[in-house]
Amino acid sequence: MTKAERKRFVAGALRKLCREGRMNESRAFCQHGNTSVYWHSIRVAYYSLCLAEFLHLTRHKEELIYGALLHDYFLYDWHEKDKSHRLHGFHHPRTALKNASEDFTLGELEKNIILRHMFPLIPVPPTRMESWIVCLVDKGCSIYEIIRL
Ligand SMILES: [Fe+2]
Ligand SMILES: [Fe+2]
Repeated sequence: MTKAERKRFVAGALRKLCREGRMNESRAFCQHGNTSVYWHSIRVAYYSLCLAEFLHLTRHKEELIYGALLHDYFLYDWHEKDKSHRLHGFHHPRTALKNASEDFTLGELEKNIILRHMFPLIPVPPTRMESWIVCLVDKGCSIYEIIRL
């Protein structure tokens, strides 16, 4: 895939999530520094696709993109002081999965990507290669978003 094709692929999935779900709401929530959850998720999806192509693991690229775009679909600002936001790092994959399941029909792979992306903080490892990809790319993107402040 060329860079333009990759961008178009991610954008197509993103449009669907905005149209049929609450993805647009994530624009308002800060993830790291001045990166919103929305842009963090797009970045993770794009680079997950790059890594999957590099590893020749593109058989499930649709699920990879949807899982990556929805991995932080928790839909609140975790920086706000609120009892329900405590231990965000541990709880948000479950919240993201719950929200995503309310809005979309998810397959096993997308669920695994969302639920396992916080390994090793949550010590249950991914069981699919695509989940490992998103888990690793999420770490890389998060570090980038924090240090470029
Ligand atoms: Fe996350
Ligand atoms: Fe993330």
